[in-house]
Amino acid sequence: MATLELRNVNKTYGSGLPDTLKNIEIAIDSGEFLILVGPSGCGKSTLMNCIAGLEDISGGAILVEGQDISGMSPKDRDIAMVFQSYALYPTMTVRDNIAFGLKIRKMAPADIDTEVARVAKLLQIEHLLARKPGQLSGGQQQRVAMGRALARRPKIYLFDEPLSNLDAKLRVEMRTEIKLMHQRLKTTTVYVTHDQIEAMTLGDKVAVMKDGIIQQFGTPQQIYNDPANLFVASFIGSPPMNFIPLRLQRRDGQLWALLDSGQARCELPLGAMEEGLESREVILGIRPEQIGIAQGGDGSLPSIRAEVQVTEPTGPDTLVFVELNQTKVCCRLAPDAAPQVGASLELQFEPSKVLLFDAQSGERLGLLGAARPQERAAKVAQLKGR
Ligand SMILES: Nc1ncnc2c1ncn2[C@@H]1O[C@H](COP(=O)(O)OP(=O)(O)OP(=O)(O)O)[C@@H](O)[C@H]1O
Ligand SMILES: [Mg+2]
Repeated sequence: MATLELRNVNKTYGSGLPDTLKNIEIAIDSGEFLILVGPSGCGKSTLMNCIAGLEDISGGAILVEGQDISGMSPKDRDIAMVFQSYALYPTMTVRDNIAFGLKIRKMAPADIDTEVARVAKLLQIEHLLARKPGQLSGGQQQRVAMGRALARRPKIYLFDEPLSNLDAKLRVEMRTEIKLMHQRLKTTTVYVTHDQIEAMTLGDKVAVMKDGIIQQFGTPQQIYNDPANLFVASFIGSPPMNFIPLRLQRRDGQLWALLDSGQARCELPLGAMEEGLESREVILGIRPEQIGIAQGGDGSLPSIRAEVQVTEPTGPDTLVFVELNQTKVCCRLAPDAAPQVGASLELQFEPSKVLLFDAQSGERLGLLGAARPQERAAKVAQLKGR
C-alpha cells in the first residue's frame, strides 16, 4: 500500500511533437482505486507507462509514499502493470508466465504453486495453465496477463484496460472479483477503462482526461453529478446527458430557461446566478433519469407536454425520445410507464438538477461551485497537503 502523487507531470515523445501529457496533477491515498478514463489517444497508456517507469517523464515528479521515483528503473519501483497489449512471454506456459515475477523474487516453490493456483482460480484459467500464450484466445491471454500482476503483492497495481477483450458475462464477473480483491488487499490501484459501469463502480476516484489534460478529478459521484465542463458531462453517463442549446432570460431577479416542444412551452427557473448570462449562448444539460412524467400532483415542478417520437425498451427501463427546442431529448422511464409512439406526455423537471454550460468554452456556469476550475485547483492542493 502506498500513496501516489503526480506533480505537474509532462510528457513529450520528441521535439516538434505536441505534448502527450500536460501538467498532470493527481494525488491518491494509500489503498485508493483510481480510474482513468478518456477517449482513445488522450494519453492514458502513456501516463501508466510513465508511472511504471517504461517511459521517462519530460517534467514534473511522480511520488510513491512521498518519495520521488521518476528517476528509478522500472524494476526498483515495486509496481505491477497489466498492459493493454498483454505482453506475455510467448515461449513460457501460462503457469510460468504467472510464476515468473515470483521466481525472480525468490519465493519458495511451494508458495509459488499456492499463489499460481489462487490467481488461476480467481481468473478462471485453471484449465489453461499448461498452454502457451499462442494457444489462447485474446480474452484468455488478457486474464493470464492479469494473473501475472495479481500473483505479486506490489505497492501499486496499474491495469490498462484489463477486461476489454472479455465477453460481457465474464467481464461483469471479473469486475466483481477485482472489487472484492481490492476490498481485501487494499492495494493502491490505477485502472484504465472505457467502460462506464467499471468507472462508476470500481473507482474511489475518477480522473477524466482529454488531449493529455485532466479535465476533472473527483469521486465518481462528483464526476457524475457535478461535471466541470461539457466534455466530462458528455463522456460520463449512458445514455448520455441531454444537451439543449438556448438563451436565458432574466426576470424578477432570476434567470429562466424557455423550453418549447412544438406543442407547449415551459419556463424553468434557474435561480439568481451571475449577471450577464442572459446575453450568452448556453447549453442546458439534464440527465435522462432526471426527466419524469408529471403525475398530475400539485404542479410544483415545471412541466411540458411533448410528443413521443421513438421508444427503446432496454429491459430495466425504457428510453423515450421527445423533441425540445428542436433537439432530440432522451428520457429514461420505468418500463410500465413507457408510452406509445405518437402519444403526448407531460414531462417534468427538477430545476435544481439542471446544469448550465457556456456554449463556446464548454465550462460549467453557475450552480454548484465545486466544479469551477479555481475550486478544483484548491481541491487538488488540499489532497496534496494530506
Ligand atoms: N512511442 C510513441 N512515440 C510517439 N507518439 C506516441 C508514442 N506512444 C504514444 N504516442 C502518442 O501519444 C498519444 C497518446 O497515446 P496513448 O497510447 O497514451 O493513448 P491512450 O489514451 O492509451 O489511447 P487508447 O484508449 O487508444 O489506448 C497518441 O497520440 C499516440 O499516438
Ligand atoms: Mg491505451
